[in-house]
Amino acid sequence: MKLFLDTADLEEIRTVARWGVLDGVTTNPTLYAKVGGSYEEILQEVCRITPGPVSAEVVADDIDGMLSEGRAFAKLAPNIVVKVPMSETGLEAISRFADEGIKTNCTLIFTANQGLLAAKAGASLLSPFIGRLDDINQDGMEVIRELVGIVEMHDLDSEVLAASIRHPRHVTDAALAGCHVATLPFKVMQQMVQHPLTEKGIKTFREDWEKARAIIAKTGDKAKAAETVTPR
Ligand code: E4P
Repeated sequence: MKLFLDTADLEEIRTVARWGVLDGVTTNPTLYAKVGGSYEEILQEVCRITPGPVSAEVVADDIDGMLSEGRAFAKLAPNIVVKVPMSETGLEAISRFADEGIKTNCTLIFTANQGLLAAKAGASLLSPFIGRLDDINQDGMEVIRELVGIVEMHDLDSEVLAASIRHPRHVTDAALAGCHVATLPFKVMQQMVQHPLTEKGIKTFREDWEKARAIIAKTGDKAKAAETVTPR
């Protein structure tokens, strides 16, 4: 499963790119509002950091506005994917972009049927928002399972992207459901790295190593050094 970062924060994107696990980036108007600056410049820099798909969302709600915003985004870099909200106009825009060879990510998907429509219109990425469904006591992961099943069964030319991820368990469950991509807030990416036993283990290894080295340096007694290791 590909891992995207769901942010417009360049430092977060650079950090995860350095980890070697960044497959792409999704942004949205809310994420962009958090960092400010020129949206175009931020997008171009993100596209320089990652060669993977970078989603840029249109805000117009009429077809001409969507098309003109999307075409302008697509000119910024070859890896831009135009993010279009699910709606009747959004489907029309996705279909027009597909005819023009511009890749799209259909966002704000909350049912498998919406995803099916977006795939048929030509969206390359289908983004069900699982956290927002969980927030209203519906099972977001069920939409992922259904949509992945539909895409695979009918060999549709789209990938399912698990969006609105709230915690690391969402990532595991999406991966087990066969989801093609998940987009994660930076915090969730960090939470995936961490485990208290990993941190404890690193600390213990370092302490054992330093204690043993000190004893060997002082006495040369390797057996005595071995006795100092932390019991498991
Ligand atoms: C996806 O592309 C969206 O930007 C994002 O995942 C929305 O998540 P939220 O529900 O946390 O705002």
